[in-house]
Amino acid sequence: MKYQLIIAMALPLLTASAAELPVYLDENAPIEQRVEDALSRMTLREKVAMCHAEGKFASPGVARLGIPDLWMSDGPHGVRAEINWNDWGYAGRTNDSITAFPALTALAATWNPALSEAYGNALAEEALYREKDVMLGPGVNIYRTPLNGRNFEYMGEDPYLAGELVVPYITGMQDNGVAACVKHYALNNQELWRGHINVELSDRALHEIYLPAFKRAVEDGKSWSIMGAYNKVRGQHACHNELLLNKILKDDWGFDGVVITDWGGAHDTREAALYGLDLEMGSFTNGLTSESEFTTDDYYLANPYQKMLESGEVPMSTLDDKVRRLLRLNFRTAMNRRKPYGSVATPAHYAVAEEIGNEGIVLLKNAPSTPKGQPLLPIDPSRYGKILVVGDNATRNLMAGGGSSELKPKDIVTPLAGLETLWPGKVEYARGYMAGRPMYGHADVIPAHVEDSLRRQAVDMAREAGLVIFVGGLNKNHFQDCEGGDRQEFALPFGQPKLIEELRAVNPNLVVVLLTGNAVEMPWADKVPAIVQAWYLGSMAGKSVANVLSGSVNPSGKLPFSFPRRLEDNAAHHFGTLSYPGDSINQEYKEDILVGYRWHDTKKIPALYPFGHGLSYTTFEYGKPVASARSMTADGSITVRVPVTNTGSRDGKETVQFYIGDDKASVIRPVKELKGFDKLSIAPGATVEATFTITPDALKFYDPASASWVAEPGKFKLYIGSSSTDIRATLPFELK
Ligand code: BGC
Repeated sequence: MKYQLIIAMALPLLTASAAELPVYLDENAPIEQRVEDALSRMTLREKVAMCHAEGKFASPGVARLGIPDLWMSDGPHGVRAEINWNDWGYAGRTNDSITAFPALTALAATWNPALSEAYGNALAEEALYREKDVMLGPGVNIYRTPLNGRNFEYMGEDPYLAGELVVPYITGMQDNGVAACVKHYALNNQELWRGHINVELSDRALHEIYLPAFKRAVEDGKSWSIMGAYNKVRGQHACHNELLLNKILKDDWGFDGVVITDWGGAHDTREAALYGLDLEMGSFTNGLTSESEFTTDDYYLANPYQKMLESGEVPMSTLDDKVRRLLRLNFRTAMNRRKPYGSVATPAHYAVAEEIGNEGIVLLKNAPSTPKGQPLLPIDPSRYGKILVVGDNATRNLMAGGGSSELKPKDIVTPLAGLETLWPGKVEYARGYMAGRPMYGHADVIPAHVEDSLRRQAVDMAREAGLVIFVGGLNKNHFQDCEGGDRQEFALPFGQPKLIEELRAVNPNLVVVLLTGNAVEMPWADKVPAIVQAWYLGSMAGKSVANVLSGSVNPSGKLPFSFPRRLEDNAAHHFGTLSYPGDSINQEYKEDILVGYRWHDTKKIPALYPFGHGLSYTTFEYGKPVASARSMTADGSITVRVPVTNTGSRDGKETVQFYIGDDKASVIRPVKELKGFDKLSIAPGATVEATFTITPDALKFYDPASASWVAEPGKFKLYIGSSSTDIRATLPFELK
């Protein structure tokens, strides 16, 4: 009763203020009107303040107008633990533990856009609960070399695959009022010298290989923000780069969001003002550890920018453009009152993480351990006495380290825990090797006698075991899968190759499970019967690994990048040091458009495990493809259907891959390029059709002379495969 009275008295006041609500606060007004209204109320000082950080992960709103600050967080595999206001230390909060989702390489290996959308949605819900407006991810830098320390945060070597997966991640996230920040635009394809290396490459490589996934993120995903890369591109830092930001991103692609620097990626006020940067973050740090006495007023887009604006050295229009974008981002996120509250570490989020793990794990090899036996996987525990798990990665927290993607998960199921729960009382463990602690800038050295004794212990136990599951790979230490440095060798580290060989010598029933974000050298591959690529799978890693090894989940992941036999077989490395890693100042992408499988195919250098490869516990037979026509015109299309039958005895999923090759062209073209895929769920004995529509766009190359995409009439081939080398049917067709 009392409350009703108060409300009744307050009502006239509320209505009066609602009528006077300024346009920028009116959620029913069109967003562009709100932007213009807010802009018109702001002082020069307030506008400049918006263009740079005020803390490590916050940028100012307009306090006087009630426009809130923007809060950002890494990204891209979960919401990072809270960082101090103005240094890189963790704030030590007890309410910032979250779900760690699988790394983006694992997501890419699912070849499942619906799972990518679920990923974006679940991550956004966690971001909302943690009160974040902008999530710093996903990353779509193309996998160029297996030595890049940050490949685990990206979606592989193919621009089409990365593009298909990045779009639903963004929409799944932004539907919740949380902005994606696609990174690192562009050509940050190695960590060595990332702050200054100058990348030179052809227009074709730029437009055909390195930009398409970003373009999809902007044009189809409508990403609200994008992060500039640390490196230089054609002589200019990527964070204020006239070609990449003004011309391509904003003019050609019509990007209406905010360009955010990588942390410390701005280097010049004039360039930052003129060449497309909107928000400067983290200046004077290396993005990982170093701090300085500079205040945010000293940022390039702070006082120095205001001086240039006041003296007329750079036009006011540059500032208004930046602030419009920042306001737009703010209205879409922080000031969106209709967004949900979010939640963290829920059963639903764990289910998403587990499902992505289940579908991302790639079965690389599955042979019998004896000449007449069955394939080793899935494991039938009744056939063995003890099952021995060996390896540091079976128990390691692989969310610690790695750089900015480091996470503080609420729960972790390690592979060992997953297997022990599955087969209680049956599993033994030996560490086998050790990797040391994750630290920035340096790595622990493991003394030889420690390595020897761990190996000997594991080999002794393996001799007595019925089956050995080795869980190794890389980790998030410096010089492994870690930001700020590249891997220094292609081989597995910490004596693992020797350990694997010795385990195999004493026990033929050996399953190798690799947790990595990169391809590794496998000189032992021919000797080991079963090899599983299980990436970094986050909180529920051990569940997904146990699901696949036991067969409760039939593996369906396919490699999103090639695993070369030798490092020299990789295109970037083939051309020597100027190609990778460069001479410390400059670098030339000499392999041009022939990246990944495009190189292996065209140069006839087979990969050990090719792009698109991944086995199943069942078998699939591809029927004869049926095409709606055998020729098309420049505005036509051809629809192709392929029946696929599950000829085994288990439910399974098969990703049918569609590649197109141009038989004769006036320019160099790869033998074939991925242009479509269809992931089918097929019951035993059933047949399901994969479909694909060939459009003229799928036939085009980038023509630098006309700065446009061109399809040359003539003969083409459609390759339909279970991987980039396991081609089950080809279909010639013609563009008239
Ligand atoms: C990384 C970014 C990250 C940023 C903020 C930089 O070192 O390159 O990917 O978002 O730090 O942590």
